[in-house]
Amino acid sequence: MKRALGVCYYPEHWPEAIWAEDAARMVETGISWVRIGEFAWSRIEPSFGDLQFDWLDRAIEVLGSAGLKVILGTPTATPPRWMLDKHPDMLAWDAQGRERGFGSRRHYDFSHDGYREECARIVDILARRYGANPHVAAWQTDNEYDCHDTVLSYSPAAERAFQNWLAETYGTIEALNTAWGNVFWSMEYDHFEQIALPNLTVTEPNPSHVLAFRRFSSDMVVKFNKVQVGLIRAQTDAPITHNYMGRVTAFDHYDVGADLEIASWDSYPIGFLSDRLEEPAAHKQRYLRQGDPDFQAFHHDLYRAVGKGRWWVMEQQPGPVNWAPYNPAPLPGMARLWAWEAFAHGAEVVTYFRWRQAPFAQEQMHAGLLRPDSEAAPGLAEAAQVAAELVEAPDVSAAQAPVALVFDYASQWAWETQPQGADFDYFRLCFEMYRGLRKLGLSVDILPPDCADLSGYKVVLAPGLLELSGALKGALERFDGQAMLGPRTNTKTGEMVIPVPMGPNIDGLDTVIALTESLPPSEMMPLLKGGTFVKWFEHLKGDAEVVEALVDGRPAMVQAGAIRYLAGWPDEEALARILEDLCEAAGVVTLNPPDGLRLRDTGAHRFYINYNAFEVEFDGLLIGAADVTWRPL
Ligand code: GAL
Repeated sequence: MKRALGVCYYPEHWPEAIWAEDAARMVETGISWVRIGEFAWSRIEPSFGDLQFDWLDRAIEVLGSAGLKVILGTPTATPPRWMLDKHPDMLAWDAQGRERGFGSRRHYDFSHDGYREECARIVDILARRYGANPHVAAWQTDNEYDCHDTVLSYSPAAERAFQNWLAETYGTIEALNTAWGNVFWSMEYDHFEQIALPNLTVTEPNPSHVLAFRRFSSDMVVKFNKVQVGLIRAQTDAPITHNYMGRVTAFDHYDVGADLEIASWDSYPIGFLSDRLEEPAAHKQRYLRQGDPDFQAFHHDLYRAVGKGRWWVMEQQPGPVNWAPYNPAPLPGMARLWAWEAFAHGAEVVTYFRWRQAPFAQEQMHAGLLRPDSEAAPGLAEAAQVAAELVEAPDVSAAQAPVALVFDYASQWAWETQPQGADFDYFRLCFEMYRGLRKLGLSVDILPPDCADLSGYKVVLAPGLLELSGALKGALERFDGQAMLGPRTNTKTGEMVIPVPMGPNIDGLDTVIALTESLPPSEMMPLLKGGTFVKWFEHLKGDAEVVEALVDGRPAMVQAGAIRYLAGWPDEEALARILEDLCEAAGVVTLNPPDGLRLRDTGAHRFYINYNAFEVEFDGLLIGAADVTWRPL
């Protein structure tokens, strides 16, 4: 598969007179894809029914005839102002019951039928007009579902839709009352219309109610997306994608991805490090101008799974962004490194955001490949270098990794609903395990929770899974590598109720979690072999073989055959040892690359990705600061 570069472009922001020159410069840079249109509704339809396609026709023609392939975005993330006059109740409400306003973007409620129909109308018109256009080679639905926390809404529209969803899901109110345990605190309902959204309750709402609301909210995104996909698909065979985000878990991306050919995501490494990761200050300082060495890779691997193998970076940070608390410039080399890292994880296309920095509005301080005065910004030369290197590119098809990590959205919702310990975060648990594997020099695949086939893997991790699906249970029974489950895995039902028999309930593993405790940061539970549990400890009872113990002798990990169950949250030292043991038992060769150097194996090459601000030596190679290199395996 030929890898390629792209760029995000907003023809509506610039005089038409410069479009052709922009297109020619993109081509000269080595860019072959251009994404347009995703915020252009007010120019496509300035007032209801007044369709203005001439400019978009010409923009597509100018870009396409210059040799660029167009990714056309549906404009539904930015409904124009007139839409609100037409549908005054289309706005989402926050958890405090306040309506969110017009004046930025994503001001809509996924549950609003009227707005969904308006989206269907405009998408249908666009698909009919451009579905057969030879320059439009891919489509993007909407833009970044859940950006600015827009999936959960507590509006009257959401409440009605939730009640309908509950009726469909549970059938009878008795079934719902039983499933949720509503006898507790006399919360029983007589009919579905009585069930409000789980906000503004006196104290915490029933966790089963909250989890149902989270599942419903996710389903609304899936439904919203599916409508658009169906209409586009009716007019074209071009692939359809959506651009997901970093550490956004409010909807089930596997479910949305099931309807799309390609997954894509928007990668802003430096912004993420400062505003989406709870790392110590020294770590943030060390990687200030590079981004975290595992955060991008985690999402590359996650979205490869969501895209069933096909994925892109739809927006790649080119320079300082505008939206983090502080916005330093990347080290020279990083705009190239990030692109190559994505290719090494199997990305088909990496698209920089954006072509030219906008001189106006919210993102005027956000770098592009060009400055507002059209002079080159630092990212441009790096993009050109990547493009030149791609001509001689190694084959970067993703090969199956030796190690896999199961990642599940419902588990995130469950433990957000009931953390039990203030800092128990499911994403964080998975991310720490992922980081631990990468520090050992390993390439990792991420798997969905209903994965039914683990063949080819030697090590599988499934921490914190709310419940084991039947498919995964079956796959684990047949698994001939080493699997490590826990903490917290399979300890609740999908309704957020403790099952009896109690978890972890793994066939052949004679252990039960008799008691669970969460720990404040001041409390450690040291392990006999070194390191400590933090945050979380489960008291295991049963006859399973103990393979790790606390200093006081209590079981910390038990094992039967290919399955281990870990009873706590390991700190970095404990995790490193536990993962190394696991790999050794499974016959996976671990390497110990220098800190900040990450490895990634494709089918044919090993990539050496240096997130450090200094040169490192490994495998007989010198890898420069913020540099990436590769050689045949
Ligand atoms: C993304 C978004 C873009 C732009 C960018 C700025 O989240 O999709 O439209 O806002 O961030 O970094």
